[in-house]
Amino acid sequence: MEIVLSGIRSTGNLHLGNYFGAMKNFVRMQEESNCFFFIADYHSLTTHPTPENLFDTTKQVLVEYLACGIDPEKCTLYRQSDIPEIPELYLLLNMNAYMGELERCTTFKDKARKQPNNVNSGLLTYPVLMAADILIHRALKVPVGKDQEQHLEMTRNFAARFNRMYNVDYFPEPTAYNFGQELVKIPGLDGSGKMGKSEGNAVNLADEPEVIRKKVMRAVTDAGPTVPNQEMVESIKNLFTLLKVVSTSETVTFFTEKYNDCSIRYGDLKKQLAEDIINFTTPIRERIIELKSDNDYLRKVINQGAEKSRVSATKTINEVREIIGFRKF
Ligand code: TYM
Repeated sequence: MEIVLSGIRSTGNLHLGNYFGAMKNFVRMQEESNCFFFIADYHSLTTHPTPENLFDTTKQVLVEYLACGIDPEKCTLYRQSDIPEIPELYLLLNMNAYMGELERCTTFKDKARKQPNNVNSGLLTYPVLMAADILIHRALKVPVGKDQEQHLEMTRNFAARFNRMYNVDYFPEPTAYNFGQELVKIPGLDGSGKMGKSEGNAVNLADEPEVIRKKVMRAVTDAGPTVPNQEMVESIKNLFTLLKVVSTSETVTFFTEKYNDCSIRYGDLKKQLAEDIINFTTPIRERIIELKSDNDYLRKVINQGAEKSRVSATKTINEVREIIGFRKF
């Protein structure tokens, strides 16, 4: 069976970008493939969370995965830091990851610009740890948003380099995947860029309806179209992109026509968008609240996930050690 793997960093609440960029098809995938879904808590250390914060966000991501319909009986749901084989593979892959290619990585350059006082080597080798996450289960398909495309390309390079170096056909070359469709970038509400946990422009799956209404009503717009079929500015395109993921096609057509004949009122568009987001997130939010207090269940899920994940991870690391030459006396 095809191996699918995806991860989410534990740096805060999950938002619509995470959901529509990566998670939307997880529920279907777990029926059809051998799925590994995990919480990337090592990756979140690049921003130096406090111990309480690290634990709380890790728990929150676990709860939110489950609330979105991930069934730990149908897939392997685990926490990265429970699998010691991942940092071991990370160490091994680091020996063949070159400074030049790591420094050229767009996400590294972005982070280095955004946090100039904390350009740590974990940030530089972030793509290597991500490659270790993927290759430890020899996954083939990796459902992610558009922002992760380059990381997947780097993973393929590391895999191919390992195979060439040891003259083996061991690691497959995984691809970023979105169920046969283009990878997506869900925009934020601030009129520019993608929705992100630390950008202050996100609608979270756990947000209360009133919070969602407030956030959406504050979204950036322009003064409105003045000539028919006017090209949309970025902030308006973004609202339509969000509308397309949560609303019906009739709603999208309705507001598109209103835009094109210059009769649109952005207030109406935002009200509709907010209600459609609320409709979409309400069942998820309700499950989040239920699951959050069920510590016994969460403990069972995380322990079982670690056990299941380690079976496959141990097999890979033993084979990799053998290939590299760490042989038994
Ligand atoms: P993270 O937590 O930043 O994002 C988790 C997933 O959500 C997607 N995503 C988006 N997609 C579309 N539009 C957006 N605005 C948006 N924001 C986030 C991301 O593309 C991602 O799929 N490095 C990964 C975590 C990770 C991982 C892995 C993923 C670590 N190891 C191995 C896959 C395989 C990340 O950026 O997480």
